[in-house]
Amino acid sequence: MLFYLALSISGSALPANEHDFIEGLLQHMTLEEKVDQLNQLGVQDTPTGPVIDQGELAQLPMSTVGSVLGAYGFEQTRRLQEQVVMRSRLHIPLLFAFDVIHGFRTVFPVPLAEAAAWDPALAQRTARAAAVEATASGVHWTFAPMVDIARDPRWGRVVEGSGEDPFLGAALASAKVQGFHGAGPPDPSFMLATAKHFVTYGAAEGGRDYNVADVSERTLREVYLPPFQAAVAAGVDGIMPSFNELAGVPLHSNTALLTGVLRNQWRFGGLIVSDFNAIWELSQHGIARGPADRARLAFNAGVDIDMASQTYRQHLPALVRNGEVPLTAVDDAVRRVLQAKQRLGLFEDPYRYSDEARQRANVLTPQHRALAREAAQKSIVLLKNTDALLPLPKHLRNVLVVGSLATDAEATIGPWALAGHPEESITVLQGIRRAVAADTEVVYLPGASPVSKEAENLNTVRQAARLAEVVVAVLGEQADQSGEARSRADLGLPGAQEALLRALLDTGKPVVILLMNGRPLVLSPTVRQAPALLETWFLGSEMGNAVADILFGDVNPSGKLPITFPRSEGQIPLYYAHKNTGRPPSGDGRYASAYIDEHWTPLYPFGFGLSYTSFSYSTPRLSAQRLASTQSLDVTVTVTNTGARSGEEIVQLYLRDDVASVTRPVRQLRGFRKVHLAPGEARDLTFTLDQGDFALLDSDFSPVVEAGTFTVFVGADSTTENHARFEVTDSRALSISGQSVPSQGSN
Ligand code: BGC
Repeated sequence: MLFYLALSISGSALPANEHDFIEGLLQHMTLEEKVDQLNQLGVQDTPTGPVIDQGELAQLPMSTVGSVLGAYGFEQTRRLQEQVVMRSRLHIPLLFAFDVIHGFRTVFPVPLAEAAAWDPALAQRTARAAAVEATASGVHWTFAPMVDIARDPRWGRVVEGSGEDPFLGAALASAKVQGFHGAGPPDPSFMLATAKHFVTYGAAEGGRDYNVADVSERTLREVYLPPFQAAVAAGVDGIMPSFNELAGVPLHSNTALLTGVLRNQWRFGGLIVSDFNAIWELSQHGIARGPADRARLAFNAGVDIDMASQTYRQHLPALVRNGEVPLTAVDDAVRRVLQAKQRLGLFEDPYRYSDEARQRANVLTPQHRALAREAAQKSIVLLKNTDALLPLPKHLRNVLVVGSLATDAEATIGPWALAGHPEESITVLQGIRRAVAADTEVVYLPGASPVSKEAENLNTVRQAARLAEVVVAVLGEQADQSGEARSRADLGLPGAQEALLRALLDTGKPVVILLMNGRPLVLSPTVRQAPALLETWFLGSEMGNAVADILFGDVNPSGKLPITFPRSEGQIPLYYAHKNTGRPPSGDGRYASAYIDEHWTPLYPFGFGLSYTSFSYSTPRLSAQRLASTQSLDVTVTVTNTGARSGEEIVQLYLRDDVASVTRPVRQLRGFRKVHLAPGEARDLTFTLDQGDFALLDSDFSPVVEAGTFTVFVGADSTTENHARFEVTDSRALSISGQSVPSQGSN
């Protein structure tokens, strides 16, 4: 135990408890050794991050590094760990960080897809499985969950988050953190988690990645901060600032948010780690006078660890010596790094995560594949099903599958599956072939890809479609058309897919469209003409099987959209929790807040998703019509399966504060619950609302409950009109730390 430290600090008795151990270590460290702990080396390029000078990195001794990005596998992590533990003076082990975003070797649905399951318990289970695999492969620390609220589907990173809503986002953020943690230390599958990108990255102007955000303080507190606050409350270990600026201040030099909100208001005691090379980019932002200035700005704002740019290593020691950076602040940052290593048990055994036997036993197991299939099934959203075309029978004379995405294994696992192997995933075509009856012929023609300029062999495709009983068109985006630096201005089907679809529809045959994409697409009139539409996103290792499970009715679809699908790009940003305005768009007449050339409503609203069965809702019943601000309110609704199949419904509760001292959204999600019902079965569901749900931030941003009436809506999506009204009889100031509106997750 603690053998290598004992070797190095000769003569000093080892401190008895853990606190003393870290303090003892700090006392023995030179300033340079301390700064090394704040230096994170990228040993491989991120798929999308800016490339830095690899020549310089190759020269860097590993002992000048406190953590490493991108290394994984027991062999590589053990080798790097040995270099540091054996060759550095104090033998302080490395932290291995990796982007474990939606699975590891077993790939789960991309986060936006998984958010469509509205299932925090599922999010927790997939994060757990990912942590089990990653930690068995040497990884200590993930840069997930990504909890950025995104209301602009032009932004490619919409795919990485939970969509547009802070309440759903907060519930999933905290579930993910708990999943990555598992039972916690000393369990060796405990993995450190990082909430990113703090904050308003998703508000990049024009949806252009890295672009400036300029949101109001109210929107910041009500919309963008709550998922971060939920992650902090769940015990998240790290926070990563975002690449962009907010109202003139880059997040990497944003003292008010990093130190003011995170450290002082929320009492966040974990690590603040820069994004890739982002400290270097402070010069590009035009706020740093040179390299030393970048280090000073970022460190003094609160960034503990420098990912990839080497700025701290080169400049922090001098800044401390000349008094521009306090040594005590460096000690605090280093202490946080050492504490993280201690929590992982690395001082006792630096190799405890690099374990060959554990890696072999835990990665891509049948259990994880089964979970990937379940998660994928639950993430699929049925958008349209005219005349109950779906589910398809498994006995068909023949089925024509069209579209290059049907066999695209890279798209199957999506843009952020760095440790995933595409060839280990089940493509849509494979899934369909496995599912149909032995005598059903499956014909496949690529027809068009998301990057082809022209459709291939359209005449052959037409001919095959005419002979087919049903056509399944797999259309959407390739994996590299969503994700970082993948902003799009045109959200239609890219490439020649639209022409392909036109040709298919012209045959008059029934066409089922499987959409495969990482963001809401703008579905053209041609797409809308198809009788059946399933949103299948990028679903991971078991995508093909899960799609077939839904397509042929072994599983009834239950997903609901976690983000609005607009009719056209010109409507963006479009989200359900909008304000009413003084001239509501729903109003009559010429001077309404609407468009003269487009509807103001979305094509598919937030929360929308169909089922192969149908559900009905009773009017909400309230435990009281009038209540004091300190009282809670029960809202009960009876949900009935009125169709012929059993199915799951995601019941959603929205709240509107009818009159307040500041304008309020027309409704806000305040509860959701998944219920499984057999045909004809009815169930009562009760949601409890309290002051945290009634509260708003007043004009001074103090949380208050204001007396007045509220409307509560309960139904199948964010447009439900099924409502009841109640009154809160008194006003009251709340003492809630953190000052963003509380979001406690699902009821
Ligand atoms: C991304 C981060 C990611 C980091 C490390 C950056 O390009 O913005 O989300 O964690 O790379 O891979």
